Order: sequence, then structure tokens, then C-alpha cells
Amino acid sequence: MADDFLIVHASELLTLRGPRRARQKTEMSELGAIPDGALAVSGGVIIDVGRTDSILRGHAATGVEQIDADGKIVMPGFVDCHTHLVYAGSREFELELKAKGKSYMQIMQEGGGIYRTVRDTRAAPWKDLFHQSAKRLESMIAHGSTTVEVKSGYGLDKTVEIRMLETIRRLAEDYPVTLVPTYLGAHAVAPEYEGKPDQYIDFMIDEVMPEISKRKLAQFCDVFCEKGVFNVEQARKVLLAAKSLGMKLKIHADELSSSRGAELAAEVRAVSAEHLAKPSDDGIMAMARKDVIGALLPATPYSSMSKDYADGRRLIDLGVPVALGTDLNPNCWNESMQFTISLACHKMRMTPAEAVTAATMNAAAAVGLEKRVGSLERGKKADIIMLDAPTHAHIPYRFGTNLCTRVIKEGKTIWEREPF
Ligand code: NIG
Ligand code: FE
Repeated sequence: MADDFLIVHASELLTLRGPRRARQKTEMSELGAIPDGALAVSGGVIIDVGRTDSILRGHAATGVEQIDADGKIVMPGFVDCHTHLVYAGSREFELELKAKGKSYMQIMQEGGGIYRTVRDTRAAPWKDLFHQSAKRLESMIAHGSTTVEVKSGYGLDKTVEIRMLETIRRLAEDYPVTLVPTYLGAHAVAPEYEGKPDQYIDFMIDEVMPEISKRKLAQFCDVFCEKGVFNVEQARKVLLAAKSLGMKLKIHADELSSSRGAELAAEVRAVSAEHLAKPSDDGIMAMARKDVIGALLPATPYSSMSKDYADGRRLIDLGVPVALGTDLNPNCWNESMQFTISLACHKMRMTPAEAVTAATMNAAAAVGLEKRVGSLERGKKADIIMLDAPTHAHIPYRFGTNLCTRVIKEGKTIWEREPF
């Protein structure tokens, strides 16, 4: 494929054109769809977008390569704004525990859950950690993700937390996908500090975070703010320390219980609060006022066999800009933003158009990349996917299958298959 090319005859070209910020309320329904759409790419960047006849009039004379979308959807590559991609091992045996009624928190408090994966990740040779994570990343690309946020959080000591962040950096060098690294040392209290969360927090702040900041290994810092993990005061301390080192902030907030995480996200001006199954009304209003993005992760209650999905409809109606992520982790092995969009529509009362905005433009804003990716507009990176379907409503409608036929990253085709 040449550096310069056109894509023509999309059934719907979803541009997501509009302000280069997270979209709110009814803006989330505006996909800027162009029927029989086309676009022109040069040097990895989008240079023109419009109807096929007008793009051909403007560019075909140059003899540039034309890719015929042949009635497929053409849209921005998915931005997966919340993953725990890097870990070793798996936890499929927890399915049986969950089926017998054990909650996510019970499994964790009995030494399983995150603690099980901390043991596996600490024990894994670096090569295994890299290859296991790389395999998942390849599958995410094949499902249309071109930008992925990745958290640490299965080391909980200095060496392995840094090893995880180095692994993210190495994956970003080896794979044609933008990775956004997040330090999540406060994912759980490290086993060495059992019963002493405040001492663990001091260790992170004094020993680990300065090194991460010096080596620019993380753009964001995240905390699991939850009853039985870190309370609001502890989460605030970690986040303010990270902020003073120049990191942007995220919070695992109100996932399993009302923990005042949404309020804290607004107070510390986090870019996003994630999960939000049980935010208070005050927390929702505070987020809406401060433009904190709600990153919703519907595959998590699905995999935890819980009924507690975030109320995406209500959050959007109250003015919170909503984004979506897979939450890929060993409890929730979900590599597909298409499946995530389907769950958002079926379980969180979001419309197909809102879910598409949440999985592209708003997710781009949730990782701080709203000026570069998330929409198909002049000057943005040519991160483009083709889906074998006539309209965007087919994405949530046809779950459990991969509709992607081509994935383009910065103007290069990085994955392709024949349509069935
Ligand atoms: O976002 N809630 C905390 N962290 C992850 C799960 C991590 C794990 O279970 O290994 C989440 O769901
Ligand atoms: Fe998570």
C-alpha cells in the first residue's frame, strides 16, 4: 500500500467530526456519518474527507491508489481507554467460584483475584510476560483497536511494577499501535504491607513514583478506590503525589460500592473516573461540572457475574462525557471493543451512536489524545478501520463475531482479512 491512498464507497463513513474534546449529552449521538463516504490519506495523516464523488473529483487525477470499501463501514480505529493488558497467567478457574456465588471481592480477599495474578506476574520470566501480553495485543488489533491504554498493577513492588511499564514501552516499540501507559501501583495493598496500606502508600510515593517519573514510564496514575482496598483519603494522597510529578490522573471509582470516588475524581481534576457502577448523585453532578470523563467497562460486571452495570444512559443525560474500554484483565479477558459496544447498548442503555462515540472520540479524550485520534478529520492520524456491515447499529447488534476486515494505523494496513 502506498503512502498516499483514497478509501472510497464506504456504506457509512463515520467521521465523528466536531470539537476536539470529549462529547457530551446529544453531541454523543452525532457521528457525522457520510453515506457513500470517502477519504484521502497522505503521509499517515487524513487530508480530506467527503462523499466519494467529491473525493474522486479532488484526488483521482493524481493517480493515487484507491481502496474500495465496497459498502462497508469506515470509521476511526477504536481507542480502548482502560486495560490491564500486561500480566502473566490466567484465572479461568474463578468462573466456577463465581458461578457458585463468590463475589469478586471475596475471591480477592481470600488471596485470589488480583493477588493470584501478582504471584504469577512476579514469577514470570520477562520473555513470558512480554509474549503473553503481545498475543493479546495482536488480537486487540485484529478487533480494531489502534490506541490502547495499559496499566501496571500486578507487581506492587518496585521491580515488577517498573518491569510492567517497561514491557508496555517495549510492546509500543514492537507493535504498530499507540499505547498509553498508566502506573497503577495502588491496585491493591502489596502482600508485604498487608494491613498497612498507609505504609505501602508512602513506599509508592517515596520509592517508586520518583523513578517512574524520572524515566517517563507512565503518563497517567490510577488508584483502585474501593471499600476494602484504598479509601478516599489514601487515594487522594497517591493521586496528588502523582500530579505533583506531572502525571495525569484516573481513578477506579465506585466499581463495587459507593466509595465517593466520583467526587474525588472531580476534586483532583482526574481526566477520567472508571467503572462507576455505583456513583452518588453528588459525584455524578461534580463530574459533569468538571468535565471528568466516565470510562465505563461493561465487560467487568459481565465477567464477574454481577448485575451491577453502570447506568450509561443516566450518566450521559446528566452531562457526563462517557467513554468505553474493554477492561481486559485476568478476571475479564475481553479483547474486543465491538463486544464492549454491544454490552454498552444491551446492558447500560446506551444507543449505538453513543456507544460508537464512547469507543472512539471520548475514549481518545480519556487517554489525552483527543487532538490526534478518535475522529476522521483533516490533520488527524490515519487510524482507520473497516467493518463488514452496512450501518453502525450492526456493531452492537451482531455480537460475538469480529466484523473488522481491515485495520489501518497511521496510513499503514496492519491487519486484513477477506469478508466472509
Ligand atoms: O478494573 N478493579 C480493579 N481492577 C481490575 C481487575 C483486576 C483483576 O481482577 O485482576 C478491574 O476490573
Ligand atoms: Fe481496571
